[in-house]
Amino acid sequence: MAGIKSGKPAQKPALVREPDKTGRPEWDRFLRACRGQPVDRTPVWFMRQAGRYMAEYRAIRQDHTLLEICRQPELAAEVTLQPVRRLGVDAAILFADILLPLVPMGIELSFSAGEGPVIHNPVRSMEDVRRLKPVEPRESLAPVLEAVRLLRRELEGKTPLIGFAGGPFTLASYIIEGGSTRAYVRTKQVMVGQPDAWHLLMEKLSGVVAGYLSAQVEAGAQAVQLFDSWAGALSPEDYQEYALPYSQHVFQALSKASTPVPTIHFSTGTGAYLPLIRQAGGDVIGLDWRVALDQAWAALGHHTPVQGNLDPVALLAPLPELERRVQRILEQAGGRPGHIFNLGHGILPETPVENVQAVVEIVHGWAAEEHA
Ligand code: CP3
Repeated sequence: MAGIKSGKPAQKPALVREPDKTGRPEWDRFLRACRGQPVDRTPVWFMRQAGRYMAEYRAIRQDHTLLEICRQPELAAEVTLQPVRRLGVDAAILFADILLPLVPMGIELSFSAGEGPVIHNPVRSMEDVRRLKPVEPRESLAPVLEAVRLLRRELEGKTPLIGFAGGPFTLASYIIEGGSTRAYVRTKQVMVGQPDAWHLLMEKLSGVVAGYLSAQVEAGAQAVQLFDSWAGALSPEDYQEYALPYSQHVFQALSKASTPVPTIHFSTGTGAYLPLIRQAGGDVIGLDWRVALDQAWAALGHHTPVQGNLDPVALLAPLPELERRVQRILEQAGGRPGHIFNLGHGILPETPVENVQAVVEIVHGWAAEEHA
């Protein structure tokens, strides 16, 4: 690609690897990086890589609501594949939404244009929490699991598939607030003022999330990511007491599976307590842009695989500046095993698709020059 300079040479990792049975040695570089194994080039994918910034997604959204796409396996699979075709990313992420499993629990959910998610029966008392139903994902979330199976057939030997769910804290915040929030006032009021209701809610949510992710793995997801996007709203002490045990429950349940897959633990605003995030679990820690990669590694231990952490707004910058910022992250990683390139949070709708393509080329090209 024109205009891309080579990155600063850094220490070379050991690149010994087995010949690949598929004949495409790059196909599993994402899964290898999740396990901290050496890779030929840094793998890259993007949170929210399917979405409104892409014309082909907008075309499908003209005729279908978000929930319709999630509930029709062929449509969900098609939307999942759009960024794989267009960007050449190293992983596909199942198209769904973290709020879907709340519906069979008894939550009335809709997505309104411009406002984001709306929950019509928010949960704010012990009585509300008691009414929430357990979920059998193989029944009430069957279309999502069918999309996983369809995708595995489509992607076999080409691109690995990531499944996902919301973190218990992040889901609790939507259920209690009734939608998105800035200050988490109601969430924290329940947490601190009605701790019994809080703990029962978190117990129910972590059970549902563990069951849902296990069902995705059973259907064929090759890695799973827990999006605890809003965990950083808590102080370290509150995270430890009110959120950590429930995320930990989810990761422990997954690690007990007969064939465990790599798990990614993503959150934002938690740079000041990364050791607690690591303690909660996850083979890979997802980082936002508020923490430098090398500082994160110092806090987590240098052998911990990490994912991140470009500011999504950098994708709106002029190309030379975007390139500089991508290279800075690659230089911090220094080609060491256990780095997956991603954003620090999801792609914004106003992002030019060419800039996302450019990032994939920079990441793949940088590593190639590096190891030439
Ligand atoms: O990453 C992917 O490409 C997979 C698809 C995916 C969606 N939502 C589809 C979606 C994933 C991984 C999510 C996760 C999700 N959903 C999170 C955690 C990640 C994060 O961004 O913090 C959260 C908090 C939600 C809840 C949610 N869903 C919100 C707040 C919104 C509205 C925000 C917006 O951009 O409008 C949604 C809607 C949503 N989910 C969209 C997509 C592509 C945009 C909807 C549209 O097409 O109208």
